[in-house]
Order: sequence, then structure tokens, then C-alpha cells
Amino acid sequence: MNFSEGYIARLAEYGECRIEEIGQRTSFGIGGRAICFYPSSIVALKGAISALSDRPYAVAGGLSNVLCGDGDLATTLVFLRGSEFERMAKEGDAWYIGAGVRVSHLLHRCLDLGLSGFEFAVGLPARVGGLARMNATFRGEGIETIIAGAVVLTPQGEVKTLLGDELGISYRKTSFVGNVVLGIYARLTPCDPLVLRSRMKENVAFRKAKQAWGDRSAGCVFKNPSPEMPAGRLIDQCGLKGVRCGGAEVSAKHANFIVNKGGATAADVETLISLIITQVKERTGVTLEEEVIRIR
Ligand code: EPU
Repeated sequence: MNFSEGYIARLAEYGECRIEEIGQRTSFGIGGRAICFYPSSIVALKGAISALSDRPYAVAGGLSNVLCGDGDLATTLVFLRGSEFERMAKEGDAWYIGAGVRVSHLLHRCLDLGLSGFEFAVGLPARVGGLARMNATFRGEGIETIIAGAVVLTPQGEVKTLLGDELGISYRKTSFVGNVVLGIYARLTPCDPLVLRSRMKENVAFRKAKQAWGDRSAGCVFKNPSPEMPAGRLIDQCGLKGVRCGGAEVSAKHANFIVNKGGATAADVETLISLIITQVKERTGVTLEEEVIRIR
């Protein structure tokens, strides 16, 4: 693909914009080249919305729950970095946390300040905007248990604060898909840092024991059709653990993870996803729905 120099130059008026290899930046270790845009501020991002809209665009969090295509991507990736997007401050009863805040950094701040709420996210190579967008949860806790509001930028360039029911939070879903999440308001509670540390350790131990920890993956590939029917169990029952397409493999540890065993391409993962969907449908009658977001 020929990336348009005019488009890049127009975005560069609002921040940094360049073509980058993004494969190694994704948790999967998969992906080709993309136009990457780093708006310098919220006002700059507002200004850039109309220029950005000439192509599809997606806000990149930690690139940890996505499958990026192998070649040149038609989608522009927007990275929310810098002081405005990585701000964390107490506002009234809640904490405002910018979408660009990295989970590891956030958890260090929570330990320093003695604040509980985000222990569920320990170990995720994610950013707060991505956690919010996916309504990430872990063992009964997650975004839905702490979120009080979200500040979003609409495709029309309007900054809005969504509160309570306007958030439309349900399993792996929110009402703000289609908007850029700029930050969230979270209810964090005071907690002894020693207690926080031990909860985080326990959550890491759980992930290490039960999930594809240490392998390159994008987390769970499919949504659970229902709490009683987890996708991992269905895939496991179909005998698909260890099945491989090129460098992509159904994890032997947890069947709802696809892992990159080395040199996997997006095409390998897509073939494996199709195979899983077909086999699970044939053998159980259930149609699995993808959780991983594809960026092409
Ligand atoms: N199971 C199997 N075989 C497997 C995997 C799981 O039989 O290969 C069985 C387990 O024994 C258990 C059931 O399936 O009885 C559920 O498994 P698990 O407890 O691992 O939870 P899950 O439903 O597969 C969900 C989230 C995870 C989250 C964990 C822990 C989804 C799609 N996944 O997994 O989120 O970390 O609960 O709370 O909702 C993610 O979204 O990326 C993710 C990893």
C-alpha cells in the first residue's frame, strides 16, 4: 500500500505522525506497518478528527487484545501518550485516570497511595483506555466494579462525560465503542499496601497457573457464550488444545488462548480462529464470537 504523504503531513500538524512496524509492539508479536499518530494534546486530537476520518482509525491501548494484519494496515493507529492522556488525579470522590496510563504504572501509583480497585488488572500489558473499552474483568472484579464515569471524544469532535447508565456496561461491552476514551473516573478505596501487594501476587499466581502466561498471545480469543458455557471449556472438549496453523497454536494450558510459538502471522491466527469456530459449531452447536479486535 502507498501510505498517503498528504494525509501524514496533515496529521503531523496535530502531533507526531509516522509509518512504523508495529508487530513487535503487540502482545501477539504479529502485525505489519501502520501509520501511527501521537496527538500532542486533547485539543490537538479534536482538531485532527476530521483529517483522521479520511481513513479508518483505531485508538491503540497496549495492543494486547488485538490481532493486527500482516501487511500495511488500512487503519491508522492513534496512541494517547503524554501528560494530558496519562494524567491521574483525585476529583471529588473519584479518581480521574487518563486512557493512556499504563497498567503497570497505575498499579505502582496505587501501591504508593494505598488505593484498591485495579488489582484485577495486574500482569496485563494494557492501558486504562483499553481496559475500559473491553470492560476487562478478572475473577469477578474489573472495570464494571470500579467505573463511575468516562470522558470520551465523539466522532464529531465533541468531548462528553458519560456517567452511570450512560456507560452501558455489560459483559465485555460498553456504550462508548466508536468514541475515543480519553479517561475514566474510578472509585478507588483506601487499602494497606501490604494487602494490595498480596492480592496482586495472588492474581499473578492464578494467571501463571491457569492461563497462557509467558507465551505471546492476545488474551482470550473468544467471548464466553454464557457463564455456564466458557469458550475455553468448549474448545477443550472438542480436543483442539495444541492444534496448530503455521506458528499459531491453541494453548495447551488454556484453550481460549491462541499463542504465537514463533513466526506466527495474522493469516495463521485467522485460519486457526476459523477452524475453531467451525469445529465448535459442528460438535456443540454453539457459535463462538471473537473478543479479540481485528485491525486491518
Ligand atoms: N476450562 C477448560 N479447559 C480450558 C480452559 C478452561 O475446561 O482449556 C474450564 C475451566 O476449568 C473452568 C472454565 O472453563 O471450569 C472457565 O475457565 P477459566 O476459569 O479459566 O475462565 P474463563 O471463563 O476461560 C474468563 C475471562 C478471562 C479472565 C478469567 C478469570 C473471558 C472470555 N475470559 O476466562 O479473561 O482472565 O475469566 O477471571 O471472559 C480475557 O478476556 O482476555 C481473559 C483472559
